[in-house]
Amino acid sequence: MNVAVILVAAGSGVRLGAGMPKAFAPLCGEPLLAHALRGVFGCGQVGHVIIVAPDFHVDQCRAAVRLLDGHRQAEVVPGGVDRSASVEAGLAALRHEDRIVLVHDVARALAPPDLFDRVIRAVRAGHPAVVPGLPVTDTVKVVDAQGRVLATPDRESLRGIQTPQGFLREVLQHAHAGGGSATDDAGLVERAGGHVRVITGDARALKITSPLDLLVATALLQDGQHAG
Ligand code: CTP
Ligand code: MG
Repeated sequence: MNVAVILVAAGSGVRLGAGMPKAFAPLCGEPLLAHALRGVFGCGQVGHVIIVAPDFHVDQCRAAVRLLDGHRQAEVVPGGVDRSASVEAGLAALRHEDRIVLVHDVARALAPPDLFDRVIRAVRAGHPAVVPGLPVTDTVKVVDAQGRVLATPDRESLRGIQTPQGFLREVLQHAHAGGGSATDDAGLVERAGGHVRVITGDARALKITSPLDLLVATALLQDGQHAG
């Protein structure tokens, strides 16, 4: 079963405040997009890569691919108004042979190849929708608009969910065809009545949202380089 990765990179990165789309924000001298692609291409099971680019930055994404080692190939398509629309732009670029589809955020630029491998393996093992997740360390409370606490869910049952998220192609397409919005693709699958399996995530797949996250990512990368 051929595996495609849709790398959603069309966000503007307002909260990061780098003055450019987040995909091009530098991390240890390279754009987040280059780091993210290294994770994707490091996984030997991936046969087709689709980058969903910010409008007007399609050529810049193509140039970033050309700068990678090893003559890597990726298709670049323009994104949509929100994340779901960008995923749908990626779905439209799938090839006939792509049977398993992973959706990954460029914002999780340091997700390692091993995480891609484990997600793909879980889909191949028979789970139609697979997401990586880690135990939540903060206590989480449900609040109303006035800040009143409504509930404190048992932390043991909570997971912080990451990407790459992996799906059988038809499951992901069916979920998106139902419309609506969710903060991740698995949320749409759940809404469509599908079953989603959580596997153990990876701290390196942290979401780079704010300048503080970029500092953490810089430290992780430098630590990895020293370890290597
Ligand atoms: N994304 C996308 N298309 C959009 C919006 C978001 O492809 N129209 C992607 C982002 O590039 C990112 C992922 O969805 O990889 C998660 O989004 P987020 O972390 O919110 O990134 P941004 O939208 O770029 O950041 P911000 O919300 O701060 O502007
Ligand atoms: Mg956003």
